[in-house]
Amino acid sequence: MTHIGGVQSWCLGVTLQLVLAAVLHQGLATVAPPTTAPTPPAPHKDPGRPEKGDYLVNRSNGTACLLASMGLQLNITYNSVSQNKTVHDVMNLQPNVTKPSGSCDSDRASLLLSTDAEKTNLTFVFTLNATSNKYHLSEVSMSADWPDMKKPVSVNNSNLDYLRGTFGFSYMCHEEQTLNVSQDLSINTFQLQVQPFGLTGDQFGAAEECQLDEDDMLIPIIVGAALAGLVLIVLLAYLIGRKRSHAGYQTI
Ligand SMILES: *[C@@H]1O[C@H](CO)[C@@H](O)[C@H](O)[C@H]1NC(C)=O
Ligand SMILES: *[C@@H]1O[C@H](CO)[C@@H](O)[C@H](O)[C@H]1NC(C)=O
Ligand SMILES: *[C@@H]1O[C@H](CO)[C@@H](O)[C@H](O)[C@H]1NC(C)=O
Repeated sequence: MTHIGGVQSWCLGVTLQLVLAAVLHQGLATVAPPTTAPTPPAPHKDPGRPEKGDYLVNRSNGTACLLASMGLQLNITYNSVSQNKTVHDVMNLQPNVTKPSGSCDSDRASLLLSTDAEKTNLTFVFTLNATSNKYHLSEVSMSADWPDMKKPVSVNNSNLDYLRGTFGFSYMCHEEQTLNVSQDLSINTFQLQVQPFGLTGDQFGAAEECQLDEDDMLIPIIVGAALAGLVLIVLLAYLIGRKRSHAGYQTI
């Protein structure tokens, strides 16, 4: 009896081991890299949300003139060496390896972001309308020379109208926003706050929120109002009910 039991458990043990081996093999097979090793230059794999960077531009006298805080993701279309076709590659700007520079005039402020390692230059130009006291992002240019690019990509659009704000105020957009620059470049911004004109010290002025954020805030407001309405109705029903039962009590 014990002997048969031993054989059975031995069989079970072997089966378990076989199953385990099969599962492990399966797992390894899916994890293992393809037989042809990928060439070193390759498009960036789904980079996730970009980290937020703080960028400051000073005037020649050392005072701050442009302040930006944002996560940036570049979506570049180019001819890939490794894939031998056109790809849409998404790259996050890494704040710790991104150097800001730029310049400020009375009606024009620029922010240049350069990454050495990635060989990318990105310039934002803001324009101020002195009559209306409004500014906007009017121009973006970019040049990139990545290892995977068959030839460098250079893009410029000086006819943009994004990130509209008022002199002395900052423009803010927590939600992801896409700035379409050209056929070959779009920029996704995350948790953006920027002020290109009318800074006091190196602090942002009061923020003007973008429409996307306001729409976002509308939902909790509507839900809150609905809940408040519900509470009011229940309270009224209770009060009316109490009055009635009270009245009924008196007639008896
Ligand atoms: C990048 O751009 C392509 C085409 O312009 C688009 O299909 C894709 O969804 C974009 N990807 C991201 C993450 O923005
Ligand atoms: C500046 O704003 C004024 C008033 O809104 C407008 O009439 C004018 O065309 C704007 N100027 C430029 C260069 O956009
Ligand atoms: C970026 O700008 C620097 C300085 O002007 C230049 O040396 C470099 O070649 C530029 N990189 C690209 C990819 O255009």
